[in-house]
Amino acid sequence: MDLEELPGVGPAIPEKLREAGLNSLEAIAVASPAELVATAEIGEATAAKIINSAREAADIGGFETGDKILERRKEVGKLTTGSKSLDDLLGYGIETQAIAESYGEFGSGKTQIAHQLAVNVQLPPEKGGLNGSAIVIDTENTFRPDRIKDMAEGAELDYEEVLKNIHVARAYNSNHQMLLVGKAGELAEELKNTEKTVRLMIIDSATAHFRSEYVGRGTLADRQQKINRHLHEALRFGDLNNAVVMITNQVMVRPDTFYGDPTRPIGGHIVGHTATFRLYLRKSKGEKRIARLVDSPNLPEAEAVFSVSLIGIRD
Ligand code: GTP
Ligand code: MG
Repeated sequence: MDLEELPGVGPAIPEKLREAGLNSLEAIAVASPAELVATAEIGEATAAKIINSAREAADIGGFETGDKILERRKEVGKLTTGSKSLDDLLGYGIETQAIAESYGEFGSGKTQIAHQLAVNVQLPPEKGGLNGSAIVIDTENTFRPDRIKDMAEGAELDYEEVLKNIHVARAYNSNHQMLLVGKAGELAEELKNTEKTVRLMIIDSATAHFRSEYVGRGTLADRQQKINRHLHEALRFGDLNNAVVMITNQVMVRPDTFYGDPTRPIGGHIVGHTATFRLYLRKSKGEKRIARLVDSPNLPEAEAVFSVSLIGIRD
């Protein structure tokens, strides 16, 4: 069902909703009436009606029995990072149906790991892959096919084939970025019965556009709400496609920290609560990097050393 088919919605409203990132029935179903009033310039009553119809049409927000959840959890796959120590830290690789976040300062390896995953996802399961293709939402224009070539060769794969299975879109602003998650869903649907289904979505960086667009007092709540919705849509993508969702995040330095590391990820609690696995990356000597697993629900907080080498992420 399209947004246009919702009762009470003319041709103009869907466009406004989409521009604001409310591009799917699910997104509208979980939006607040006030949000719709503000974005689509409609009355409170109309907004409530639209949300209700979206809820019915999207069939979300209901209960699911434990056995169904167990069934879905049985299918959880693991994707190798290329480094055994990093994989071990994460419980033998990065899980599907969850969001993994990497945060750290510039050059800490966030984008390098993202590139490596886009290659590794194409490997067969015996080699730690998911035999799938990748979607990359690139917000900072840092996707480099040359780097994929190095890494593909490092993984003994044909780089031309590997590049064909990585679908990259540049996101020009935060709304566009949110729209692209919807597009990613459509693309995954199209590739569903092919040899390489989509098993990985990367959003690099998930927060940069939001950070630069929402500045000044009074915009924080709005920003957090948008990030929240964005990440939940990404998580839903992961569930629906049994895919790994890897997002990257910048850090800021909190000057009011008197002891310990003053570095904090952007987006704070909102990102932290949606991401199941959070990796804090730090630079070490030369190619070496240190990853710390933070706030994992079922794994101990620990560290691993890996390296960013010519052929990719390794121990
Ligand atoms: P920002 O996006 O700027 O916040 O940083 P990031 O965490 O994404 O950093 P990124 O993953 O781009 O890491 C960049 C680092 O990876 C560089 O400083 C190099 O150390 C390393 N690197 C990038 N390309 C190569 C390469 O071709 N060979 C090797 N050996 N290292 C590389
Ligand atoms: Mg980067």
